[in-house]
Amino acid sequence: MTGMTDPAMMTEADAANRLMRLAREVARHNRLYHGDDMPEISDAEFDALIRENSAIEAAFPHLVRPDSPSKLVGHAASSPLAKVTHARPMLSLGNAFADEDVADFIGSIRRFLRLGDDAPVALTAEPKIDGLSCSLRYERGELVLAATRGDGAVGEDVTPNVRTIADIPQRLVAPHGGDLFGDGVPDVFEIRGEVYMAKADFLALNDQQEAKGGKIFANPRNAAAGSLRQKDAKVTAARPLRFLAHGWGEVSALPADTQMGVMQAIAGWGVPVDERLVRVEGEREALAHYRAIEAQRADLPFDIDGVVYKVDRLDWQERLGFVARAPRWAIAHKFPAEQAQTTLLAIDVQVGRTGKLTPVARLEPVSVGGVMVSNATLHNPDEIARLGVRPGDRVVLQRAGDVIPQIVTNLTPDADRGDWSFPAHCPECGSEAVAAEGEVDVRCTGGLICPAQRIERLKHFVSRGALDIDGLGEKSIVEFFEAGLIHGPADIFRLRQQRGEILKREGWQDKSVDNLLAAIEARRQPAPERFLFGLGIRHVGQVTAKDLVKSFGTVERVAEVATSEGGHAELTAIDGIGPVVAEALRDFFHEPHNREVWDDLLSEVSPPDYVSNVRASPVSGKTVVFTGSLETMSRDEAKAQAESLGAKVSGSVSAKTDLVVAGPGAGSKLKKAAELGIQVIDEAGWHALVADA
Ligand code: IVH
Repeated sequence: MTGMTDPAMMTEADAANRLMRLAREVARHNRLYHGDDMPEISDAEFDALIRENSAIEAAFPHLVRPDSPSKLVGHAASSPLAKVTHARPMLSLGNAFADEDVADFIGSIRRFLRLGDDAPVALTAEPKIDGLSCSLRYERGELVLAATRGDGAVGEDVTPNVRTIADIPQRLVAPHGGDLFGDGVPDVFEIRGEVYMAKADFLALNDQQEAKGGKIFANPRNAAAGSLRQKDAKVTAARPLRFLAHGWGEVSALPADTQMGVMQAIAGWGVPVDERLVRVEGEREALAHYRAIEAQRADLPFDIDGVVYKVDRLDWQERLGFVARAPRWAIAHKFPAEQAQTTLLAIDVQVGRTGKLTPVARLEPVSVGGVMVSNATLHNPDEIARLGVRPGDRVVLQRAGDVIPQIVTNLTPDADRGDWSFPAHCPECGSEAVAAEGEVDVRCTGGLICPAQRIERLKHFVSRGALDIDGLGEKSIVEFFEAGLIHGPADIFRLRQQRGEILKREGWQDKSVDNLLAAIEARRQPAPERFLFGLGIRHVGQVTAKDLVKSFGTVERVAEVATSEGGHAELTAIDGIGPVVAEALRDFFHEPHNREVWDDLLSEVSPPDYVSNVRASPVSGKTVVFTGSLETMSRDEAKAQAESLGAKVSGSVSAKTDLVVAGPGAGSKLKKAAELGIQVIDEAGWHALVADA
């Protein structure tokens, strides 16, 4: 985390600018987390962005944006999978952190049911598995539908994917070999539980992904979600997914009158139920089981983040009911983040693509929650000062669900050791290293003189979101750079003149070199947004690059505007582009080294004009208004879908409106549409209209 400026010290312009960037940043991280299962920051860092946003909004209430993160509730997952409305909503759980919270939970059950203060309350207790919940619908014992939780009311249809998971039976087995229906499998039975990936399988999958240049997952939960939520079930089939049942949804009959009894029946039908599920009575036994599971936590094959207690008697569950979206009869007792102690051996400083110097802690290897850890990021000099760490210190490490662990405390701040000081020069090129005013990050000022920055920029240039050259991964980039075959990005396109040199190198044969050169040739006309993103200009991510070429048509024009007299105003007039990006663009194109790289590159490649990938559809070019409450999609999702089909979405009905999509509760807009004789359809009509688009 970079340091946050105190909102009280901000000018109104700074605040507006920062709020705009926060809105975009949060939206992006939401997309990465929910849509792509590929978060780039930890939950704690995400929360810090939200807190920063709220603090600025509190100081400047008139600047709250319509797209502010404070107005978003969750994220309507954008997904190519079909939507499924759950027959019974999939709920979430309230949390307990301290033992007293568990006592309060049991006390509130007694009060609600008007039991005496000492009345026995039986609970089930079981691990809270860190996976994603899934509902499996069995009709007459056959698996007919599987859906993810989604927003609890509507999930995604993952039936073909779930059919590839070995733990999940296609057909429920009759207990004791009896007659299936005579022997107690109800007509309709939805089993709910957790799809997860074991820790060892997750690590092996990431190794495999790394070897083939695929997506690296941040933790087992994201790996499980990414593997399940696939359009192509063959991908799911190749991933080691597992399942554990923890409850049920719609059922035509129940095989028992307690939570434990029903779970035992489910296990009897052949669906895995965790062996640590037990029945306990009262707070003391519940906490004892919590401690027992906590003690096993690091050795369990999968990640868990707490223990779930549920009232055992189903008639009591019925009476207790729900508050908001969580049952009154269940609670998740969370574990603290997993920690371990180790010795800090050294602090190395790495140089990134934009010259940022990142201190990395090299640690005596230690297992944190079952994962061996030997490195941790120290972020920046402020973080090192906060911790007061020096090589030799004993430190506490923490892994909070994510792979990248953090150092939380220094156990030996008073040991007699010299302070570690942040280098004043870049460890790679010796140029001065400085922090810009008001920034905590220290950067190498060497620009493209710095080999570390050059190589990181080259890696970025060929990365997936940029030129994405098949067979030219980070490893080959480093190899060719170190061998002096490439110095800058344009050299990649001159590698064909070095065919003989490459062939002399170990591991390269005629065929692999030909494939590589062909893949490079195939990128001589890169999409302009990929090209622009690939340059690695500070603050210009994929979305900004696209916004820029969309507005200006060509990359040449973007460069021209960036350095022109009125460029700043022209750039900041674009929705989503603020002064920070405008300045970064100007700085980049003003710098002579970058100009050289740019000219050299454009002598080798020619990015074509921007072509919008908006599809032709029955609504292209039409102005659409959504009104009333939408049931199968969020407002944002409806808007995004309409826009991707070439429609313009407007908030109000006028003579220019072509189509109104009205859900229940639509009022004045519907009336106005009728007055103006504009076509009105309902949500189902909309889906039918765009179904084949
Ligand atoms: S019971 C009505 N039991 O945790 C209660 N949930 O934070 C519904 N989870 O969405 C959930 N292990 O995906 C229950 N043993 C367990 C669980 C569990 C993991 C997940 C589940 C739920 C989330 C709520």
